[in-house]
Amino acid sequence: MADWIVTERPDVRDIPPEMSVSAWGLQFRMGLWNAAGMFKSGKGYELAVRQGAGAFVAGTTTSRPRAGNVRSGIRWPAASYARSSSASNWMGLPNPGHEAVARRMHDTERHPGCPLGASVTAEPGLDPDLAISELVQGMQLYAQAGVDYLEVNESCPNTAHHEVSHDLYERLSRISEGFLRRRQSPLPVVVKFSVDTDPLQIPELLTMLIDLGFDGIILGNTSTNYRKHESALDPRDRALYTYFSQTFGGGVSGAAVRQDAQDLARIAQEALHTMKPSHEFHVIRCGGIATAADVLASQADGIQLHQWYTGYYEAFASYGHDLYVAMAKQVLQKVQRV
Ligand SMILES: Cc1cc2nc3c(=O)[nH]c(=O)nc-3n(C[C@H](O)[C@H](O)[C@H](O)COP(=O)(O)O)c2cc1C
Repeated sequence: MADWIVTERPDVRDIPPEMSVSAWGLQFRMGLWNAAGMFKSGKGYELAVRQGAGAFVAGTTTSRPRAGNVRSGIRWPAASYARSSSASNWMGLPNPGHEAVARRMHDTERHPGCPLGASVTAEPGLDPDLAISELVQGMQLYAQAGVDYLEVNESCPNTAHHEVSHDLYERLSRISEGFLRRRQSPLPVVVKFSVDTDPLQIPELLTMLIDLGFDGIILGNTSTNYRKHESALDPRDRALYTYFSQTFGGGVSGAAVRQDAQDLARIAQEALHTMKPSHEFHVIRCGGIATAADVLASQADGIQLHQWYTGYYEAFASYGHDLYVAMAKQVLQKVQRV
C-alpha cells in the first residue's frame, strides 16, 4: 500500500461489540482484516487499528529482501478492471525480508481487539532444503517478535521458481517439525492456498494440516485460471485483461474469484465439521470479499474469519477510513433483518 495512506492517522473508528469474534484465544474486533500483500513492509498496523480492522497481517516476506518483478520497464505490474471489481498483479513478492519486518513487528505497539499477524513464504529459486530452513528461521524471528499469528503462503503464482521440488507434504512436514512442534507459546499458524485449489483435494489437505499441527487454512490466494475468469469480466475490461494475462500472467483477484473462494471455504468448513480435530482449527475465507453480502454468505456457511484485498480498495473508494464501520453496520443490519 502506498506510504501516504499507511502513514495517515485518521480518528479511531469504533466497531460495535456484537461484531467481535474470538479464535485461538485471540480477540478480533470483527472477523475481517486485510489479506497478505497489502502491507508488505509491515507498516500500517496503526492505520488498521484506527480504521477498525479486525486484525492486521504484514508481508508476505521471504528470507532475503526481494525487489519484485520488472518487465518492459514496468515495476510490479498490476492492473485493475474497474468495471468488474477485479484486478491482476504480477508483483513477484517484493519485500524487505523476514528479519526487517519482524523487527518492525517487535517495535509495534499493540491494541486490544486487533491481533497482529505476519505472512511468510519460502524464498523462491533457492535449494528447497535451504529455502525451508530459512523459512523456519524467519518464523522463529516473528515468534520472538511476539506476533499473534502466522500465515504460510503456499500459493503465490507470481514467481518463476515457486514450485520447489519438495512436494507439499514434505515442505509442510519440515515446518511442522522445525517450528510447530517446538512452539513455546500457542502461536497459531495457518496455511494459505490458491483459489484454484481443486475442491476434491480439500479433505485431504485438511487432514494433512491438522495431523501436522497447523491451526487453520486460508482459501484462497489469487487465480491463474485466466480463461475461466474472462467471461465474468465486463466486456469493456476484457482487452486489458487479455493483454495483462498474456504479457505478465500474474494472479487474478476480486469479484472474478468470489464464487470459487466462497465455495472452497464452504467445502473446507463442511469437511472440518465431520473431522472434529483435537485442536482448534479455523477456515479463513479470502477472495472476492467486497460487501456485507460476501461476509454474510460465508458466515452462513459457518465461517467467522475473512480477509480482503481487492474489495478493500473498492470499499475505501466509497467509504474512506469508515470502510470497516460501514461493513460492520451493513452486516449487523442484514443479520437483524433475517
Ligand atoms: C497487488 C496484490 C498483491 C498481493 N500480494 C500477496 C502476498 O504478498 N501474499 C499473499 O499471500 N497474497 C497476496 N495477494 C493475494 C491476496 O492476499 C488475496 O489472497 C487475493 O487477492 C484474493 O483476495 P481478494 O479477492 O480480496 O483480492 C496479493 C494480491 C494483490 C491484488
